[in-house]
Amino acid sequence: MAETNGDTAAPAQYKPEMRKQPMGNFISPSRKTNGIGIQAEDTRICVVMVGLPARGKSLIAQKVVRYLHWLSIKAKTFNVGQYRRTATPNPNAAFFDTTNPEGERLRRAAAEAAVNDMVKWFHSGEGLIAILDATNSTKGRRAWIRDRCDAEGIETLFVESKCDDEDLIMSNILEVKTTSPDYVGQDPEEAAQDFRNRIRNYEKVYQTIDEDESDLTYVKLIDVGQHVIINRIQDYLQSRVVYYLMNLHIKPRAIWLSRHGESNYNLSGKIGGDADISTRGEAYARALPGLVKQMAGDRQLTVWTSTLKRTIQTARFLTFEKLEWKALDELDSGVCDGLTYAEIATQYPEDFAQRDEDKYNYRYLGGESYRDVVIRLEPIIMELERSENILIVTHQAILRCIYAYFMNVPQERSPWMEVPLHTLIKLTPRAYSTQEERLKADIPAVSTFRAKGSQAVHQEGTG
Ligand code: SIN
Repeated sequence: MAETNGDTAAPAQYKPEMRKQPMGNFISPSRKTNGIGIQAEDTRICVVMVGLPARGKSLIAQKVVRYLHWLSIKAKTFNVGQYRRTATPNPNAAFFDTTNPEGERLRRAAAEAAVNDMVKWFHSGEGLIAILDATNSTKGRRAWIRDRCDAEGIETLFVESKCDDEDLIMSNILEVKTTSPDYVGQDPEEAAQDFRNRIRNYEKVYQTIDEDESDLTYVKLIDVGQHVIINRIQDYLQSRVVYYLMNLHIKPRAIWLSRHGESNYNLSGKIGGDADISTRGEAYARALPGLVKQMAGDRQLTVWTSTLKRTIQTARFLTFEKLEWKALDELDSGVCDGLTYAEIATQYPEDFAQRDEDKYNYRYLGGESYRDVVIRLEPIIMELERSENILIVTHQAILRCIYAYFMNVPQERSPWMEVPLHTLIKLTPRAYSTQEERLKADIPAVSTFRAKGSQAVHQEGTG
């Protein structure tokens, strides 16, 4: 098990390229595997959002794209409202009245422009999954999209968000009135009223997906996942998206993250292993309940640790329910387990350099890459999406991957992020981004961060 990075060299007959992973930067991508170690069939999918305004469609679209990017699946949102805004930046509710021919013409033109760009994007070979983010509220509009996609060899997966929960609709209206570019510079109360009128205009023509459209591939999410109806899912990639959608809830919540307290391996600059925490690590473990109280108040949390001693020891003074996950164990550094960076650089110089070049894809001999870790963390992400009030005590590489999912950090950057010891992080997912707070304990610890190109041993620092 490895704590951070390092490199491997080779047994005599071993050549580093033997363990370069398919589809990393080393071998040119093939859509058959998509470079992610999971099956992504030779398909292109247009995920077509369906639903009245203020039903969380854009939030769902944004989360799906973030999740797919995290898995290295190329995905992009095409938002029809954005296309419409080029001709009509600040329409009032009357624009969305279907008896307004000019409004209808401009809205149709915006939908066509979005679909045309999406088709071009697929044909450029850039992507696997597009999200068409619009109301797509009539059967006629959906049939048009399906025919257009069929003609281009693109599968369609319709995702309807149907919601009658007044609280949720109201909170979306509030979000829109304060954040939508349609209402920029307008009085918030007038904006909210106009938006309600816009919804009424859509309601006049809205057709939910029903048995007339039983030949469509679709998912109906009713009241944010309380009830889910699935029809004609055709392949692995579609079912993967559907599985993610089924796990989503969009209620307000936060997630707390911490690395284990400083370990004896951290002190000696070694990576991996299953060392005990140091005296200062023990001080952090004792301080952790107080830090959690400061950040989470009286909330009843559930604590997830890895199966390694340093995380279990760090969490042991927390009085909450605890769960150990093997999937939260540190990135496995294979033959480099128990070595210092200096030893790795000397014993495995070629690999040390290669890992610096493409740290995300680099797999330790007999161990793992960051890409491997992301795959094994997927059940953790699903469970996090389903849960509330989770505190995770884990390791540097694992924390980087979880953090990258919530904060949308690109994979070239995620393995190089600094995640200090003795610091509690709170992440609060919001409608369009995740908010972050950090609380640092006043307990010194070595810094285990190694910058690209450096052979530094762990530095004495303040955590
Ligand atoms: C918009 O113009 O804001 C959205 C168009 C639509 O999805 O109906």
